[in-house]
Amino acid sequence: MICRDDVVARGRRAVLRRKRMSDVVEDYAWRSDENLARFDAAPPVRVPFADYVRNWSFDLRFTDVTERAFAIEDESGRRIGNLMYYNADRSRRQAELGISIGEPDYWSRGYGSDAVTVAVRYIFQHTSVRRLYLHTLDWNQRAQRAFEKAGFAVCGTFWRNGQTFLVMEVRRERQATRPREARTAWGGGRAR
Ligand SMILES: CC(C)(COP(=O)(O)OP(=O)(O)OC[C@H]1O[C@@H](n2cnc3c(N)ncnc32)[C@H](O)[C@@H]1OP(=O)(O)O)[C@@H](O)C(=O)NCCC(=O)NCCS
Repeated sequence: MICRDDVVARGRRAVLRRKRMSDVVEDYAWRSDENLARFDAAPPVRVPFADYVRNWSFDLRFTDVTERAFAIEDESGRRIGNLMYYNADRSRRQAELGISIGEPDYWSRGYGSDAVTVAVRYIFQHTSVRRLYLHTLDWNQRAQRAFEKAGFAVCGTFWRNGQTFLVMEVRRERQATRPREARTAWGGGRAR
């Protein structure tokens, strides 16, 4: 295995690495995709590419985005999606997790649950976060199954703009007691 200093964590199949400037092209394509936007109950991005690049590169250079937003790659180094955590609440020691695999050919092949599993372990090991939660549309059963496989459990529901969302969570103390065989291998990439 080639040692790369932008790799944050390795699962059985998925690799999480830090974002780089060239990622903007795929990010724009994925964020503009109507089908993908449906899963986030959000409108697709409609700003011109140049404007998107301007904001995106500002975030990459001047914010902490590289600490909490990662590219997902497959075993061959092909980038297939993104994973991030945000809305960090220091007093409650919790944050929200988001993932999107932008390449539909890669859905239901184990990459999503693997990426979430290693991300959860990375965040619990390297930050003070004790609880991770996420929102997913009630009809998105593939996502729910992937999150369950990564240790998340449903803890509530809410409604927004006529859509029902499930809230799912994973807690550090419960994750530590999960059976070893239920966890994805932890490759222990570089920790900064
Ligand atoms: C959600 C997402 C990250 C999951 O990643 P993934 O790689 O597809 O998920 P996995 O293959 O790890 O797990 C999916 C599981 O759901 C199952 N599944 C697929 N379609 C299903 C359906 N319609 N109903 C129930 N289960 C389903 C798969 O068989 C698999 O379970 P298994 O391994 O027990 O057989 C990815 O599909 C994605 O990004 N989708 C588009 C955007 C999206 O939904 N984002 C999430 C917003 S919260």
